[in-house]
Amino acid sequence: MSGQTYPDRMIHSEKLGGHMAAAVSGLDLNRADTKTYADLLDALHANLVLCIRDQTLAPVPFRDAMARFGTPVLRKQLAATPDCAEVNIISSEDRDELGDGKKLVNGASWHTDDSFMREPCSLTMLYGVVVPSRGGDTQFTNMYAAYDALPDETKARIADLQVIHKYQSSRQTNRVSKRPASEMAAMPEATHPLVRTHPETGRKALYLNANRMEQVVGLERAESDALLDALIAHAIEPRFQYRHVWRQGDVVIWDNRCTMHKANADYPEGERRLMHRVIVAGTAPV
Ligand code: OGA
Ligand code: MN
Repeated sequence: MSGQTYPDRMIHSEKLGGHMAAAVSGLDLNRADTKTYADLLDALHANLVLCIRDQTLAPVPFRDAMARFGTPVLRKQLAATPDCAEVNIISSEDRDELGDGKKLVNGASWHTDDSFMREPCSLTMLYGVVVPSRGGDTQFTNMYAAYDALPDETKARIADLQVIHKYQSSRQTNRVSKRPASEMAAMPEATHPLVRTHPETGRKALYLNANRMEQVVGLERAESDALLDALIAHAIEPRFQYRHVWRQGDVVIWDNRCTMHKANADYPEGERRLMHRVIVAGTAPV
């Protein structure tokens, strides 16, 4: 074989949802070359959610593979694997350790990762290590399409609006883990535009997070709540969604700048679900 570890003809890709999401198979991320990673990034930009099937990746190789898409960043709100601090764990065993100690489902309401940060991560990579026999799907929604479908009048009204996002928002619909004061200090509230322009594709997307948005800057609370509720209801209409049914070994990469997503803890009682997770650095939304 000359140079290229994986000849293109062995790599198969298929569309998953109609308007977003694709899957690639026949590829081992441990051995993929630079050209392949560039193609995967293009496929991600075109499809918003990209699934790479049948991977076998220990935490350090997983982190190293994901580092080809950006700079992995540490997030202390989630447990990390003992082998690699940048690989977090999303698990059916998750509990609010510093709070009431009760079971907690991370990501159970519609959100985009990290929006409470001033520079939210650009991409999230979730690797299905143990997947339940059924259920535990991740839902996604296409925020380019949601923006495009808004009436012109609404587009004009929201064009310059900014929203305050918080780790613990008073509008929160899903409990998030309690964090120590030292960590909270590193997560002051962040103000982001309601409509953002994707830095790579140049396309406009709605930027919402049902679980972290506090209030629209300059609007009374009631008016702000009504606007945010209406925009969320619009953005999660079934026509904008794709639902990922996990297979063990899937690495699913999504772009937080143009999607929202949601976990579903609806798998059978007593079954395990274990995901390894990496996020890569992004820039302040504009
Ligand atoms: C996440 C997340 C969803 C899931 O990792 O950011 O929201 O289905 N996960 O586990
Ligand atoms: Mn999430």
